[in-house]
Amino acid sequence: MNHMRTRIERVENVQSGNDIIREAGDILRNGGLVAFPTETVYGLGADALNAGAAQKIYAAKGRPSDNPLIVHITELEDLKKITADIPREAFAIADKYWPGPLTMIFEKTDAVPYGTTGGLDTVAVRMPSDEIARAVIKAGGGYIAAPSANTSGRPSPTTAGHVEEDLSGKIEMIIDGGPVDIGVESTILDMTVTPPMILRPGAVTKEMLEELIGRVDEDQAAFEPGSKARPKAPGMKYRHYAPQAELSIVEGDMDQVVDAINKMALEKTAEGFKVGIIGTRETVGRYTCGDVKSIGTREDEATIAVHLYGILREFDQDRADYIYSESFATDGMGSAIMNRLLKAAGHHVIKV
Ligand code: TXA
Ligand code: MG
Repeated sequence: MNHMRTRIERVENVQSGNDIIREAGDILRNGGLVAFPTETVYGLGADALNAGAAQKIYAAKGRPSDNPLIVHITELEDLKKITADIPREAFAIADKYWPGPLTMIFEKTDAVPYGTTGGLDTVAVRMPSDEIARAVIKAGGGYIAAPSANTSGRPSPTTAGHVEEDLSGKIEMIIDGGPVDIGVESTILDMTVTPPMILRPGAVTKEMLEELIGRVDEDQAAFEPGSKARPKAPGMKYRHYAPQAELSIVEGDMDQVVDAINKMALEKTAEGFKVGIIGTRETVGRYTCGDVKSIGTREDEATIAVHLYGILREFDQDRADYIYSESFATDGMGSAIMNRLLKAAGHHVIKV
């Protein structure tokens, strides 16, 4: 499993990349693994209806086998084969947000092996909008299981280079379609409960869903820092998205946050440690020591989301010992950003 030659193929678009995409489809149909870009993060694809193929994903990622995979489709009518009991609201949601960064959970049919769903009787389904992703899914038979294409526990990949770092030698092919658009994983919405429940926040927000179908709940175990309850999405219980350094989130009034980070960075640097700082365009000029990186601008949360995982990986590469990050608003897209940042920090928050 570890000595495979991994082909890395640059694909600019589905027209010029047609031959590569066809070959990727052949690999998938034969039970192999292909990583490909989606609008959220890079995915590690396998034939979702082939239990043996799905099994290879767990081996390549080092993923616990009770953590179910998302099945990716390209057409609404493809839902029929893999799901039962689709509630009416699901069609309204699909109509508005598919294709896009949203996953819905339904009862599964026998067509979906338990090896894909981690033994569950439900299946998570997503219809991505990225054109290369859609072409690869179609070429691979239409039902492609794809978790994020990272080693389990590491930050999710937002470039093909990140995938290569983690999975080179373990999978047949990586399709390099350039950096992703969104940068955090899809919203997961459980449609098997009433009202539907968000198990993982993403770019399709609670507010957007409620405007469409009325009340939507959130899985408190996934949202509340330090909650002892067991998250309903099995993957949310693992320490996830984590850099190797000890990451702390510093929360409070902006001036005090900058002062506190400067003070801690100075102390740790004096002790001989490498310190990283995650600031924003608005604040980076105010940090006085350490390796300071701007994650984006507070004026546009999308710029923060798209750089989050890449910055965590950069600090790994720089061998940072401690990382201090500013905190972000928790409404809209901020909910997804803070959810991932808190998990990356093991919920270590310093209030000033
Ligand atoms: O944006 C995304 O969703 C990306 C791209 C590649 O599509 N995929 C992704 O997959 O993030 P993954 O495997 O890294 O995360 C899937 C999450 C896990 O937390 C898993 O436990 C949860 O979805 N999940 C999958 N099926 C489930 C089910 N039937 N019930 C509850 N949670 C489920
Ligand atoms: Mg993942």
